[in-house]
Amino acid sequence: MGRIAYVNGRFTPQVDAAVHIEDRGYQLADAVYEVWALFDGKLADAEGHFARLERSLGELKIPMPMSRAALTVVLREAVRRNRVSEGLLYLQVGRGVAPRDHAFPSADTQPSVVITVKAVDREAAEAKAAKGVSVITTPENRWGRCDIKTVGLLPNAMAKQAAKERGAAEAWFVDELGLVTEGASSNAWIIDADGVLRTRDTQANILRGVTRYTLLDVVREAGIKVDERPFTVADAKAAKEAFITGAGSLVLPVTRIDDDPVGDGTVGPVAMKLRRLYIERARQTAI
Ligand code: PDD
Repeated sequence: MGRIAYVNGRFTPQVDAAVHIEDRGYQLADAVYEVWALFDGKLADAEGHFARLERSLGELKIPMPMSRAALTVVLREAVRRNRVSEGLLYLQVGRGVAPRDHAFPSADTQPSVVITVKAVDREAAEAKAAKGVSVITTPENRWGRCDIKTVGLLPNAMAKQAAKERGAAEAWFVDELGLVTEGASSNAWIIDADGVLRTRDTQANILRGVTRYTLLDVVREAGIKVDERPFTVADAKAAKEAFITGAGSLVLPVTRIDDDPVGDGTVGPVAMKLRRLYIERARQTAI
């Protein structure tokens, strides 16, 4: 069965799905997005993703295209039509179609909405997690509003490509102070030499990861000490463990940074425990 996409009010076979050439998302990256992990055909961390979507849209003065309740119905229908149980749902909401002009079009311009769904092989994902992944580091070169989840992802795409060319799964951006901000499509974490779990605070110019937020809750419940404090690349290399979080990666152990091992270079017990606890929580609370 081919994939089914939702585009501006209609479900269509994905091979035929298209947007207007003057869609501002296409010409100006004037659009935001969210990615939900799907467990048992349900939306993981639904509330967190809806809240961030509304915030991103609000910051850009793009109206919500429909109520949260209506959007939930459409997202679920997209999952149902694609018959996906374990997977990812992509939602993009943009300012809409208007003759090209940098300034915003009139406020009554209809926002564009696109939804796609794809299946994920959880067995393969578990095997990848059990082996751990490598990351590279790269100078932070993004704009100052990484808290808004826009589709303007060229620096992220370039960083990810550089990682791929070096056999790594992710690139960590490093700011001018030598501190890791986050990954190209994930948040970065370490268990430092003192055994303290650390991840960058959200006052920094990073995306406020929904997986990050849920994991902080899980971690506090498990009684693990956590400090939202930045770390350097040297801290990360000297750490006991490292991992990344995101709707795509969930909790994914990192065993090498720029070809140097993290700790003894093997997947650590805490990262794997947190992966299990996060997935349990996400499955239980998915809607
Ligand atoms: N990326 N940081 C960046 C730059 C991201 O793009 C993402 C997510 C995250 C993690 O956020 P969350 O836990 O809410 O997924 C952090 C998505 C998955 C993507 O671009 O495909």
